[in-house]
Amino acid sequence: MFDLKGKVAVVTGGARGIGKGICECLAIQGANIAIVDLLESEAKETCSIIEKHGCRAENYSTDITDREKVYSVFNKIENDFGKIDVLVNNAGWDKIEPFVENDTETWEKVINLNYKGLIYCVRGVVEHMKEKNSGRIINISSDAGRVGSMGEAVYSGTKGAVIAFSKTMARELARNNVTVNCVCPGPTMTPMIEDMMKENKFVGKIFDAMDRIIPLRRMGEPKDIGAAVAFLASDEANFITGQTLSVSGGLTMS
Ligand SMILES: NC(=O)c1ccc[n+]([C@@H]2O[C@H](COP(=O)([O-])OP(=O)(O)OC[C@H]3O[C@@H](n4cnc5c(N)ncnc54)[C@H](O)[C@@H]3O)[C@@H](O)[C@H]2O)c1
Repeated sequence: MFDLKGKVAVVTGGARGIGKGICECLAIQGANIAIVDLLESEAKETCSIIEKHGCRAENYSTDITDREKVYSVFNKIENDFGKIDVLVNNAGWDKIEPFVENDTETWEKVINLNYKGLIYCVRGVVEHMKEKNSGRIINISSDAGRVGSMGEAVYSGTKGAVIAFSKTMARELARNNVTVNCVCPGPTMTPMIEDMMKENKFVGKIFDAMDRIIPLRRMGEPKDIGAAVAFLASDEANFITGQTLSVSGGLTMS
């Protein structure tokens, strides 16, 4: 049990999937949560789960690829909640197919959301965290960003970029008592993966085989990732920064 009572966390992409698991894990530890997600009805459901744990929850329907809107939503959250202690950059998207079959719209979407959107969110909160001389930034990367992954060339590039960006920010912000770490999920069952399995039979077969391929014999669940995030958000993790933690049942060990 980590004590996050009274802390305010912002979780991008908190409406469903891994983000929803992160919200629930943070709320179990007592954190109040601002979700930043476009899916309003799913976000409402996540908010009611957070509230059941006795915590405050609001969704701020915002596209994180729109820089100006991101800056103004972070100002609004800071005003509404009084502060931001933890930022979890989780919103992201992927499409599995060979690089030569990717169209340029796919590249743009992946880069804008997974990398540029994350940068905008960090920029939106970083001065606030520096001013109060404390803060936690936890970026959801991917094992694809550490070791590469077939059919995810541009996606892997963005996730590798997130890891390098996080390490640099960890160095720049250490003097301000702001830690920056990455959590890298392995294959985790979420609506994004369910959509991919439906759209592409080949991808479906790969995920069906995961229970045999992953050393711990199952795919990840959103709460597996949420538990790692809750730890990194806690006081117990106050001497950990610039690190990259895989939560993948041992699929990658690098
Ligand atoms: N599921 C996996 O196997 C897996 C593996 C490694 C890494 N990841 C990473 O975990 C994160 C979450 O993935 P998931 O599988 O839960 O996906 P998901 O699609 O199920 O959930 C993503 C959430 O992000 C939100 N979102 C998307 N675009 C947005 C935008 N422009 N602005 C605001 N919100 C937006 C969506 O509405 C959704 O609620 C992503 O960064 C993904 O790359 C997932």
